[in-house]
Amino acid sequence: MFEIAPSILSADFTRLAEEIAAVEAGGAKVLHVDVMDGRFVPNITIGLPVVKSIRAATDLTIDCHLMIVEPNRYAAEFVKAGADMVSVHVEADPHLQRTLTEIREAGGQAGVAINPATPLSSLEEALPFADFILLMSVNPGFGGQKYIHTSTDKLRRLRRMIDERALQTRIEIDGGIDASNIEKIVAAGAEIIVSGTGVFGKGNPTKGVKGLIEAATVWV
Ligand code: DX5
Ligand code: ZN
Repeated sequence: MFEIAPSILSADFTRLAEEIAAVEAGGAKVLHVDVMDGRFVPNITIGLPVVKSIRAATDLTIDCHLMIVEPNRYAAEFVKAGADMVSVHVEADPHLQRTLTEIREAGGQAGVAINPATPLSSLEEALPFADFILLMSVNPGFGGQKYIHTSTDKLRRLRRMIDERALQTRIEIDGGIDASNIEKIVAAGAEIIVSGTGVFGKGNPTKGVKGLIEAATVWV
């Protein structure tokens, strides 16, 4: 029903393979990789060579979140480097339909990421070409930020938008999610839950993932 996608941005990069094995042991199915260029967002992180290395080290689904300008120049390259899912920001790409199609043609799942202040209406025409939407619940750029509370209502509206159109587009949500708020986020219709600090923050990523799964599961 839902999957936890640990964001390696909060992992210890000197021990990346161990950190990945630890989240897998906790039950994570997706690995969220934040690619930042210092232009679309005020931070620089990792790129294609690291994705290639991760691909060689794990069978988990690799989900690359491109926070870069001109994402069309690189999106398919990330699929070739080993990403299974690639998302590009609606704010960064005037030719979104083309980029999504190129990601799919390269064999990846194509996603559209959307910032907190960008209206959902900007997704409307792109929805049929997207395998998933990445709803940002913080302004992208850094881990460890506070969940923007209006995101839950935006998430419900996105859920409705997809269901009304009878689309299979999945919803991923990213930013400020931990054991304290994950339950309401899953209840509002999110299917892939990104968490960086919530997984790696306390130094035991296996426990971190398990804690999130438990917190999101309503026991009857
Ligand atoms: C923010 C990134 C997120 C970030 C999430 O720009 O897109 O994926 O790593 O980190 P937390 O869960 O700590 O907010
Ligand atoms: Zn992200």
